Amino acid sequence: MATDKIQIFDTTLRDGEQVPGCKLNQDQKIIIAKQLDQLGVDVIEAGFPISSPGDFAAVEAISKVVNDAIVCGLSRSVEKDIKCAAEALQYAKRPRIHTGIGTSEMHIKYKFNTTPDKIIERAVAAVKYAKSFVEDVEFYAEDAGRTENEYLARVCSAAIAAGATVLNIPDTTGYCMPFEYKEKIAYLRENVVGIHKAVLSTHCHNDLGLATANAIAGVEGGARQIECTINGIGERAGNTALEEVVMILNHRMSSIFHTNIDTTQLNKMSRSVSDMMSMPVQPNKAIVGDNAFAHSSGIHQDGVIKNRENYEIIDPRVVGIDQSSIVLTARSGRAALAYRAKEVGYNLFKDELDVAYVRFIELADQKKEVSEADLSVMLSGLFKATA
Ligand code: KIV
Ligand code: ZN
Repeated sequence: MATDKIQIFDTTLRDGEQVPGCKLNQDQKIIIAKQLDQLGVDVIEAGFPISSPGDFAAVEAISKVVNDAIVCGLSRSVEKDIKCAAEALQYAKRPRIHTGIGTSEMHIKYKFNTTPDKIIERAVAAVKYAKSFVEDVEFYAEDAGRTENEYLARVCSAAIAAGATVLNIPDTTGYCMPFEYKEKIAYLRENVVGIHKAVLSTHCHNDLGLATANAIAGVEGGARQIECTINGIGERAGNTALEEVVMILNHRMSSIFHTNIDTTQLNKMSRSVSDMMSMPVQPNKAIVGDNAFAHSSGIHQDGVIKNRENYEIIDPRVVGIDQSSIVLTARSGRAALAYRAKEVGYNLFKDELDVAYVRFIELADQKKEVSEADLSVMLSGLFKATA
């Protein structure tokens, strides 16, 4: 049965790179952009060209090297931003300008000191101006998460009439609950005039730890593009993590949706972004954390050795990890010790295992983790290697 395609819009190089300490130089950005293109993302948001000469140059350079993905540049609803984005994107095979304005009561009053109608006028002018440079124009309604739905639908209808091809509905402050975000997207699908001419996009921040749940809820509500970053990096608590939404769609929703992502590259991609940005990935991070496929308690290790699926819902090879790991700690049992001993050349009989286990527990109590080298030294002092 045909499934719906979910476009993956990666903003690691724009929203992700805004994180303090995550600055990349141009060569690093080009490497990451090429890797993202190979990974299969549909859109690469390469930067915010007006923000600095360095960002302009990076967007221009990325535009020249990306083969398949759409290359996108961010702008405010300001003519000089939009013109600058268009110039930076001039070499892109498939350019997109991403322009927009704040639409929540908070932003209208305290950021722009204006009226709701004036915001719509500015949104329309920005989309029309962007459209004079490129066919593909994405409009963002900043702080849409806290924008009243009826007004948001008016803004979106006006943006489509002005030529927007994608409507980005950011939960800029990570405020929405999944059911609210789903309802918001569903409301827009029902009430925006001309909605069939545009794709609705999610852009969720993680202030309450709900960015991934909200993006998926948005898809359930009718969005067909997800904006996300590798490792979930981004402003404050970050954005929706690309690897998480892709694996949810791939693993739990594949009868309804598909993406273009080659999941076997996810682990490599995560490490590359983490290394270049000097931004470590938390060990318990879903999909790409060091512990995502590591088992350390005796009960779990025994279960995994009998059948990996006792404690793993994803085959690690699907995300580019060779195999699950059995970590030796003081919580490990005999099954784990026998398994790891075999890996380093000792096929232990039951009585040998009993002897080895006593020594192992003594060692494990002194160390956080017993490494392969520790294990080999310990076993060589007790037995002759079998293989
Ligand atoms: O979070 C947000 O609202 C944004 C927009 C600029 C798209 O990043
Ligand atoms: Zn954002």
